[in-house]
Amino acid sequence: MSSLCRSLKITYPILQSGMGRVAGPDLVGAVARAGGLGILAGLNLTPDDLRGQIRRVRELTTGTFGVNLWLHPDLHPPIDPSSVPVADVEAATAALNRARLAIGLRESVAPPLQRPDTIDDAFNVILDERVPVWSIGLGLPAADMLSRCHDRGVQVMVMVANVDDARTAADLGVDFIVAQGVEAGGHRSTWRAKAAADVGTLALVPEVVDAVRVPVIAAGGIADGRGLVAALALGAAGVLMGTRFVATRESMAPEFWKQRILAAASDQTIVTTAFTGLRARVLRSQFAQDYAASGAPVLPGLLQAALEQDIWAAASKENRPDYFPLYAGQSVGVIRDLPGAGDVVGAIVAEAKSTLTQLADIL
Ligand SMILES: Cc1cc2nc3c(=O)[nH]c(=O)nc-3n(C[C@H](O)[C@H](O)[C@H](O)COP(=O)(O)O)c2cc1C
Repeated sequence: MSSLCRSLKITYPILQSGMGRVAGPDLVGAVARAGGLGILAGLNLTPDDLRGQIRRVRELTTGTFGVNLWLHPDLHPPIDPSSVPVADVEAATAALNRARLAIGLRESVAPPLQRPDTIDDAFNVILDERVPVWSIGLGLPAADMLSRCHDRGVQVMVMVANVDDARTAADLGVDFIVAQGVEAGGHRSTWRAKAAADVGTLALVPEVVDAVRVPVIAAGGIADGRGLVAALALGAAGVLMGTRFVATRESMAPEFWKQRILAAASDQTIVTTAFTGLRARVLRSQFAQDYAASGAPVLPGLLQAALEQDIWAAASKENRPDYFPLYAGQSVGVIRDLPGAGDVVGAIVAEAKSTLTQLADIL
C-alpha cells in the first residue's frame, strides 16, 4: 500500500474529482466503496445542501471522501456586477440572445446577478462535519483556514497547473498537491493573471514531484490503467480523474453529455472562457464557436456563467448539448463505455496490474 493510500485511508490511489453538476453523493459513495477517494462538488451548494450531501455520503460509505471548493479571488468575495462596463454587458447579452433564439428562448436583457459569497459558510460546514479531505481548485487557502483544518484533522489538497503555484502551495503547508496538466477537463486551476496553464501532464507531474516534498497527484488526460501506471512512473502518488467519472452511471451529468463523451475523439475539445468567464476545457460546440465569432467580450469571474443560466437550463431540458457546457478533457478518446463508478476503479486497477506485468517483459 502506498503512503498516499495510508494517509488518505483508501485502498487504491485513484481519486474522483469534485465536479459541479456531476459529483453528488451517489458518485462519491460508489468510488469510496470501491476503495478510491470520491470528492463532492461543494461550490454551488447552499450550506444546508452541502451538509445534507456530506451526511448522505456517510450513509452510503464508511470510506474516506472529500469536498471540493474553488477559492478563486473573483469569487471570494464575488465580483460586483456593477464594476463591469455597461457596454461589455450589453455586447455579451447581444451575443447570448442569438444563442437564446437558436434554442427557442426569448431574448433577455437581464443583467448578471451578484453571486452570494458562500465560501466561508461552506468551509465552516467542512470543519464542522470533519470532512476527511478539503480539495481546493483555482486558488489557495489562507493560512488560518489551513491551520483550522489541521486542528480538526481535515487534510488539504490544492490543485495547481504550474510549478510556481505548486511551490507556493507546498510552502503554505498543504498536505497534497494535484498537478493538473493542460489535457484536463473542466476549469484550468489557476488564479493569478497570466499564470502558466498550458503544460501537459507528462511534463508537469515530474517537474512538480521534483519541486515539492508533499505527495503529488496527477490529473489531466488519465482515464484508464495505462494512465495510472504512467502517472506513477512519473513520480505521482496517485491520479485524480474527472472526465472518466462523468461517463459513469452515478454521475449526475445529463445523458447527452455522457453520450457526447463516448462519441468524441481527443481532438474535439477546446479551452474557452465563453461559458463562465474562466478558462475551461469543454467539448467543441456551436455555442462556443458562435460566441468566439461574435467578438463579444466575456464577463469576468463567474459573471459570464450568471448571464447564461437560462440557456443552460433550456439546453438541458430540450436535449441541446450544443448550448450546454460539456466539460471534458482530452481523455475522451479512450472513454467508450458507461459503467458504474465502482467498476471504473476496479477496471483501472486490473488494467494497471496487467500493464505493469507487460512492462516487466520489455526491459
Ligand atoms: C465535468 C468536470 C467538472 C469539474 N469541476 C471541477 C470543480 O468543480 N472543481 C475542481 O477543482 N475541479 C473540477 N474539474 C477538474 C478536475 O478537478 C480535474 O482537474 C480534471 O478533471 C482532470 O482531468 P481529466 O478530466 O482529464 O480527468 C472538473 C472537471 C470536469 C471534467
